[in-house]
Amino acid sequence: MMKDRLIDYRQFFTKEYLMGPNSLRLLAEMLEKCPLKKGSRVMDLGCGMGITSLFLAKEAGVIVFATDLWISATDNARRIREWKMEDQIVPIHADAHDLPYAEEYFDAVVSIDAFHYFVTSKEDFEKMVLPYLKKGGAAVIAIPGLKKELDGEAAKTFMEWVGGDQKDYDSFKTRKAWLELIGESEEYEIVQSFELGCFFEAWEDWFASGHEYGIKDKEFFARGMDEYLAFIGLVIQRKQ
Ligand SMILES: C[S@@+](CC[C@H](N)C(=O)[O-])C[C@H]1O[C@@H](n2cnc3c(N)ncnc32)[C@H](O)[C@@H]1O
Repeated sequence: MMKDRLIDYRQFFTKEYLMGPNSLRLLAEMLEKCPLKKGSRVMDLGCGMGITSLFLAKEAGVIVFATDLWISATDNARRIREWKMEDQIVPIHADAHDLPYAEEYFDAVVSIDAFHYFVTSKEDFEKMVLPYLKKGGAAVIAIPGLKKELDGEAAKTFMEWVGGDQKDYDSFKTRKAWLELIGESEEYEIVQSFELGCFFEAWEDWFASGHEYGIKDKEFFARGMDEYLAFIGLVIQRKQ
């Protein structure tokens, strides 16, 4: 079980590496639902500090292009060198709006806690992710979202949580809303959609990391946000 492998990654459950709810737990669960073929080529889109890329390379045995906007390729290259994974992980600094890759280059695009920052429409998905997948390849996505629509006081508390930023507010959607947004196409099919079971553990690791944003997030959970939040998993396959 991929989840059992997390034991070897506990040193990364800290504020130096985590950028939100524990991405390694989310990834391990996604890989159980959608195993990747050993030796395949994977883009880790929005890889942050690269810990998901490390897990993909070591545990799934894939070649990873660790792609991120906020974290520089030089910083990720240093970590990848320390991990002695230079043969399997390539650090790339890029914006999802303008990726430097050949079309149909990847067997999979994995995106953990990042996709909602840049995909806000079906067209975004079709332009930013789909072209880079080989036919038959899959996008494996975990996004923070909602169990149920926000209403009344909860909607106000949520808006306060995101600092009044309407774009951030709108990026949290239910599974149903994501299914409607990505929609149907002759080119791809949503083959799996679900809420991740590791939701609470992933958030608890983030709270326990002592990161200042984690401390703030914990306060909002205590105000009832946990009743509304979920982690949504999507597996979207490019048709042959
Ligand atoms: C909350 S962090 C999660 C990072 C990592 N996946 C993890 O869970 O540890 C979101 C990441 O999305 C990346 N991101 C946001 N917008 C992006 C864009 N337009 N292109 C590429 N990456 C983007 C950021 O650089 C950031 O590292």
